[in-house]
Amino acid sequence: MRDLNESSVTDAVIEQMAATTDARLREVMASLVRHLHDFARDVHLTPQEWLQAIGFLTQVGKACTPARQEFILLSDVLGLSALVNLMHDKTAVEQGTESSLLGPFYRQDAPSLALGDTIAGKAAAGELLVFGRVTDRKGKPLPQASVQVWQTDEEGVYDLQKGQGNTMDMRGNFRCDAAGRFHFRTVKPLGYLIPMDGPVGRLVHSQDRHGFRPAHIHFLVSAEGYRELVTALYLADDAHIDSDTVFGVSKALITSPREADPEAPVKGIPSIRYDFRLGIAAAEAAGRVGADPSQIVSAH
Ligand code: BEZ
Ligand code: FE
Repeated sequence: MRDLNESSVTDAVIEQMAATTDARLREVMASLVRHLHDFARDVHLTPQEWLQAIGFLTQVGKACTPARQEFILLSDVLGLSALVNLMHDKTAVEQGTESSLLGPFYRQDAPSLALGDTIAGKAAAGELLVFGRVTDRKGKPLPQASVQVWQTDEEGVYDLQKGQGNTMDMRGNFRCDAAGRFHFRTVKPLGYLIPMDGPVGRLVHSQDRHGFRPAHIHFLVSAEGYRELVTALYLADDAHIDSDTVFGVSKALITSPREADPEAPVKGIPSIRYDFRLGIAAAEAAGRVGADPSQIVSAH
């Protein structure tokens, strides 16, 4: 019988888990226990703090619904989602456009719209045209590529945050033309606070962080035989462009609307042009860091 002490308890746990048949589970759990124990020793975790953490995680779990994923939000504000994304990007056989976070407001059953349609359910000030092409890494157009977009409305709110999350607005799925081109109308997105009315928001608040994400439009771009791209375009003039609460901004994704781009397929409104490059697909597991919340917690 081994006498457990503050350091030998770590080895005892790892030894007991050493027979795990699934090699990846064995590796992940051993590393998790090692880091978790090191963390507890490092900060001299007290019983009260341990209980507070249990209470916090319980609240995070209780806040999860088919329309809200508080655990993903926790991962986001800790920079874990961004880290997993960055590591996943490095596994690409061909680098395409930089990726960004999927976030908790993606919905997989958004309406299919025709090129040129608006994703805004009601007319609002600040109309914007977004256009561009989907190409391979070398610039060859990818005909009929799929472009899914979603963003906040002109007040900085996602449809999922309204009512029971059963209205669809400010999102749509487009199919590129034969030359890989797409364009759609929308309204200028506003920067917004991540959901602050739950345990994660309270944590962010208690850390004196502002809680904002800079204004952006989300994209999920895909084409047969190419690696799916989850990304977003960020607006350069947002006050929080350098301090995103969830660490999703990279320089290559920062854009500014132009007043009269001669190449814009619709005149008279400001436009953003962005061409998305897709790398070829490799045989691998799905790479989305996130999911439609209703696929994680079902309504029934
Ligand atoms: C978003 O961009 O929709 C988002 C991402 C992470 C946390 C909250 C919102
Ligand atoms: Fe967003």
